[in-house]
Amino acid sequence: MANGRQSLPLVLFFLLCHRTTFAVILRTTNKSVWTNEFDSIELTCLIESISTNNPRIEWKKIKNGVPSYVYFQNKVSGDLEHRAILREPANLLILNASRSDSAQYRCEVAAIDDQKPFDEILISLAVRVKPVVPRCSVPNAVTVGYTTELHCTEKEGFPQSQYQWYRNNEELPEDPKTSVKFYNSTYVMNTQTGSLKFRSVKKEDAGEYHCQAKNEAGTSKCSPQPMEVYDPDIVGICLKVLGGVAAFIFVIVGLCQIHKNGCCTCKDHRENNYKVPEHENRMDYTSPDEGHFRHKSSFVI
Ligand SMILES: *[C@@H]1O[C@H](CO)[C@@H](O)[C@H](O)[C@H]1NC(C)=O
Ligand SMILES: *[C@@H]1O[C@H](CO)[C@@H](O)[C@H](O)[C@H]1NC(C)=O
Ligand SMILES: *[C@@H]1O[C@H](CO)[C@@H](O)[C@H](O)[C@H]1NC(C)=O
Repeated sequence: MANGRQSLPLVLFFLLCHRTTFAVILRTTNKSVWTNEFDSIELTCLIESISTNNPRIEWKKIKNGVPSYVYFQNKVSGDLEHRAILREPANLLILNASRSDSAQYRCEVAAIDDQKPFDEILISLAVRVKPVVPRCSVPNAVTVGYTTELHCTEKEGFPQSQYQWYRNNEELPEDPKTSVKFYNSTYVMNTQTGSLKFRSVKKEDAGEYHCQAKNEAGTSKCSPQPMEVYDPDIVGICLKVLGGVAAFIFVIVGLCQIHKNGCCTCKDHRENNYKVPEHENRMDYTSPDEGHFRHKSSFVI
């Protein structure tokens, strides 16, 4: 009884306030929501106060600054048609969210009988997408001491995936110096780009490598691929060096031969300069100097 008597003035007070404000006021429980792709999500648009009986409710989607209708003239339209419903009082329930639903949504309520006849509320929605199987590239054979780089990438995940490399199903620490087991390895792992770069490959780096792409929506990994590490091929290197020397000698001998032949032709035809191309020499013949010189030379001989 005492309670009832006390609450009566309160109720009256609220009723009076309500009457005198004549304003439509909206509220949401969460201005920044996310959901996983193919799940459903409800964007809440609660009407805190209103005096108009049948307010006009609209929802717009704003993507890259461009608004489009989602709920208009009492029906869902656009790409959310058949995938969204309006729930009391003005909530928008999106079913089977798609990655293209990531956007800002604006709930707008117009109440013509209110003094402040309009209010709106903006909600941002992020639809998270699980990574797909990343594309991994692992060199199948590397020589000790060489540089090599492994790649892992995946483009579907949202937010963007982070990458983790594994060797023989064992997680590689981001910094090898933090682990006793990987201490001697020279790799640098970039979890943002998916690169695993070895500055100087060691024998112990050999193994089966795989990578995992991960984001808030899930994980996905590629199948393990072997990387073999070989000792430097001494015989091969010697053969290459020998080959190089042989080629060098061959070139030198060849040059000498040309040189010899060249000298012969000089001696046969002209004595001045075997290096000068023929047509220039012909021109020279016409110059008086040349004749003079030739004369001298033959005189010397
Ligand atoms: C809003 O919703 C997201 C899920 O969509 C949740 O993670 C977050 O904690 C919520 N924030 C608040 C303030 O309730
Ligand atoms: C959800 O949407 C996807 C396309 O985005 C479709 O392939 C799938 O069948 C839908 N699932 C349901 C339960 O409607
Ligand atoms: C790292 O190298 C040092 C020196 O070569 C060696 O003593 C140690 O056993 C190596 N550690 C591992 C884990 O291979």
